Amino acid sequence: MGKLEIDDIGLESLVDAFYARVRADAALGPIFNDAIGDWPEHLEKLTDFWSSVMLTSGRYKGQPVPAHMKHKAQITPELFARWLALWAQTTDALMIPEAAAALQDRARRIAQSLQLAMFIRLGGR
Ligand code: HEM
Repeated sequence: MGKLEIDDIGLESLVDAFYARVRADAALGPIFNDAIGDWPEHLEKLTDFWSSVMLTSGRYKGQPVPAHMKHKAQITPELFARWLALWAQTTDALMIPEAAAALQDRARRIAQSLQLAMFIRLGGR
């Protein structure tokens, strides 16, 4: 099968494939399967998110930090590393190389800022 580019079809296919892998992953799967009730809706939201990030489409209107804060008790830096490893595997498998590299770079930076928001305590206590 031909590899995908960063367009509507490519991002939708990538998001579907990525969350199929996430759900099957021993470490990440349980968190997502507990948290997400409506998978078609989640996949659409995440496709909108990546469309906004990579194509500046403005389709995603949401707040990722509070969405992850809700699950802070279950989320660790190690899980972020696992998420990024799965993202790298999936983008390498599905996307043309330049697209995979750009998607990995963006995900790393977003993961970094989510982790700063979640795990860094300013002022202690
Ligand atoms: C939503 C888990 C990393 C982007 C969610 C939700 C969960 C989750 C459980 C659903 C939240 C809810 O509505 O209850 C995780 C875990 C991660 C991770 C366990 C890594 C350890 C990331 C990364 C990105 C990302 C790196 C972006 C590159 C999003 C977005 C949403 C979301 C955009 C939707 C937020 C909204 O409701 O608007 N994530 N996530 N996540 N996640 Fe993650």
